[in-house]
Amino acid sequence: MSTPAAEHAPGLAPADGTAARARGLTKAYGSGETAVIALDAVDVDITRGRFTAVMGPSGSGKSTLMHCLAGLDTVSAGQVWLGDTEITGLKDRELTRLRRDRIGFMFQSFNLIPTLNARENITLPMDIAGRKPDEAWLDQVIDTLGLRDRLKHRPAQLSGGQQQRVACARALASRPELIFADEPTGNLDSRAGLEVLGFLREAVDRLDQTVVMVTHDPGAAAHSDLVLFLADGRIVDETHRPTAESVLERMKRFDVARATPRGTGRRDGEAGGTPGGGVGGGEG
Ligand SMILES: Nc1ncnc2c1ncn2[C@@H]1O[C@H](COP(=O)(O)OP(=O)(O)OP(=O)(O)O)[C@@H](O)[C@H]1O
Ligand SMILES: [Mg+2]
Repeated sequence: MSTPAAEHAPGLAPADGTAARARGLTKAYGSGETAVIALDAVDVDITRGRFTAVMGPSGSGKSTLMHCLAGLDTVSAGQVWLGDTEITGLKDRELTRLRRDRIGFMFQSFNLIPTLNARENITLPMDIAGRKPDEAWLDQVIDTLGLRDRLKHRPAQLSGGQQQRVACARALASRPELIFADEPTGNLDSRAGLEVLGFLREAVDRLDQTVVMVTHDPGAAAHSDLVLFLADGRIVDETHRPTAESVLERMKRFDVARATPRGTGRRDGEAGGTPGGGVGGGEG
């Protein structure tokens, strides 16, 4: 996982086993006095075949990180790779194709098309790409997510949780190698939430997929292999083989850090001297 900062060189391909990678990833919104640094020189490696959770306070940059890693948003500085392809600097068309072929994205807002029914929404990305869905896989996705009897409904005729599940099915339908899920269980009751988490877990364990999931829920994070903690646009800590308890403990320390006035040594202060702090090697 750790990588020397020396790799911060243009065009350098990442090692095998990395599904996505960022070096010096910086994202600023606006400029001048109103500028917001959503991501501040983030270095991160997303290991292939692993379930990674991303946690952190609201506004810490979680969605921005996912969007930049998935090539859905431009970066202000730094580099991003998907597999061995550097996507920062790719032309729009190439990026669109790469994203379509290799990435599934579940947005924090579901982004369903209101005029299409559930099934049409699920297969839309493949329809656009002119690809036939693998029907057996699609059936498995639809049944696991309990959408069989809702396929003809439009989003407005579905509950929030059902819309969430349609968005989940859409992300999984083309069996992408890398799935980004931004709070996929945020609108689900606990049973449906557990099913989605179980499904993501299976996708990793049995189907060789890679999942990156943002969540605020320690119980959801406990389904992952690794939790990355973001604060103020930086990865400040990580927890391997998390449990709900260990994640909750770590989150409590965010609250303490927030309640404490900030000195200049912000990064050190927030890492809180935790064992295993300092993520992804190479602090620029
Ligand atoms: N389009 C935008 N224009 C300006 N600022 C933005 C924009 N999108 C995000 N931001 C800012 O960037 C920062 C990070 O936002 P982001 O959505 O990544 O946070 P988050 O960690 O996903 O939060 P939440 O848990 O609430 O979803 C926030 O301060 C936010 O206000
Ligand atoms: Mg968000």
